[in-house]
Amino acid sequence: MPYSRRIYFPIFLTLLILVSETLQAQQVLRGPYLQIGTPNSIVIRWRTDVSTTSRVEFGPAPDELASTVHNSASTTEHEVSLTGLNPNTKYFYSIGTQLTNLAGGDSNHFFVTSPPPGTAKPTRIWILGDSGTKTGNARRVRDAYYNFAVDTYTDLWLMLGDNAYESGSDEEFQEAVFENMYEDMLIKSVLWPTLGNHDDDTDSSPGPYPYYDIFSLPTNGQAGGLASGTEKYYSFVHGNIHFICLNSTEDYLQEAGNAMWIWLEEELATNDKDWTIAYWHHPPYGKGGHNSDTEDDLIEMRERALPILESGGVDLVLAGHSHSYERSYLIDGHYDLSPTLADSMIIDDGDGRLDGDGVYTKPSSGTAPHEGAVYVVCGSSGKVDSGTFDHPVMPIYREALGSVVLDIDGNQLDAKFIASDGVVQDYFTLVKGDARVSATEISKISGDEQIGVIGDTLPEPLVVEVRNAQRHAGTRFSGNLFYFFW
Ligand SMILES: [Fe+2]
Repeated sequence: MPYSRRIYFPIFLTLLILVSETLQAQQVLRGPYLQIGTPNSIVIRWRTDVSTTSRVEFGPAPDELASTVHNSASTTEHEVSLTGLNPNTKYFYSIGTQLTNLAGGDSNHFFVTSPPPGTAKPTRIWILGDSGTKTGNARRVRDAYYNFAVDTYTDLWLMLGDNAYESGSDEEFQEAVFENMYEDMLIKSVLWPTLGNHDDDTDSSPGPYPYYDIFSLPTNGQAGGLASGTEKYYSFVHGNIHFICLNSTEDYLQEAGNAMWIWLEEELATNDKDWTIAYWHHPPYGKGGHNSDTEDDLIEMRERALPILESGGVDLVLAGHSHSYERSYLIDGHYDLSPTLADSMIIDDGDGRLDGDGVYTKPSSGTAPHEGAVYVVCGSSGKVDSGTFDHPVMPIYREALGSVVLDIDGNQLDAKFIASDGVVQDYFTLVKGDARVSATEISKISGDEQIGVIGDTLPEPLVVEVRNAQRHAGTRFSGNLFYFFW
């Protein structure tokens, strides 16, 4: 090619793209949606009806979007990485082409970057399981959470699989997630999904499924945690919380030494965060619509994942698949069928409630092994099925549409099941190390043994009792907070 043509041809191509973009009506069909949030970066994705260039503008206010990232390649599947961001910082943004703003630049389009790894910050997490029904039921669950949250920012949200019925096709994901469904959450909070058995699109079998095209997931530890080398399972860190996403759908019948289990052991060995939360689709315990004593994929996950996770100090395990809500005691070491459950495996047989039997406590603040975990099945975010609900580690169950919300503040985790009618139908608290409890939430803490009465600035009468009194070493009182020491 002559020199002049080498110079002018790329310019001509760029002009051609820009001219065609000005002539075509462009529309955002999907998103924007946020992926792989870290303290210093985030991925923004969206889909357009026609191929265009990609541009994101961002900054500290909707009318101060001074920073720009653009990609001159023409595509309908836009994926732009913002890097060099400050931790724990709110950014507003807009998306578009090099010539046109297509969405954002308003008060609704923003995100907050993660805190620096290890830094404790009050964190709100929303959890949906089996939400992919594309129905009014899913929308009612969504609205119940939105009404509950009001203006509280959702730092991140999880989908526990079966995110798009019946088979996880791209069209089904469009209706189950992106269109007339979770748009308001997608534009401002990073979604971290796991794969369910209904997400394995039969047309694409054995994969990779549309799920893997739709979601950008960390494969090389870019969001914290150990690199998994695959989007099938991964980990990430948000402040003082370490999240582990396992794959119970594609890899459930594992041979010894399977890569996911090797990775999981190595991954937990690197974990030094205050909290460890693991999630996948098939529940290790439960007798809702699925029975963890008879179904291979559930048994497999219990036998393979739980010994590793509990040795690694896991605090909370989340799963879906059964279309109901089930919740365990604080337990450890129960890996066989339910009739083998021994009393010694139940660390706390109370309800874990501040105003009930007392909060669940773990003596260590970090990742000490085998101090107990709570197991939650949250699979009714799109539909409800019945069950026998008689698994001995799962005393609490609800046949109700709903989702789970977690609030983690320092060494305290509060979990709630928000039913589609807006009623909090279950709740529990887990504290690690020094048990800081917000006194404004308490009228009475009851349990096995009374240890004292605290007066004046707290609600009267306030009777403070703890279940594990033999570990109790003292109580300190400061402002409107009081502290237990173990
Ligand atoms: Fe399922």
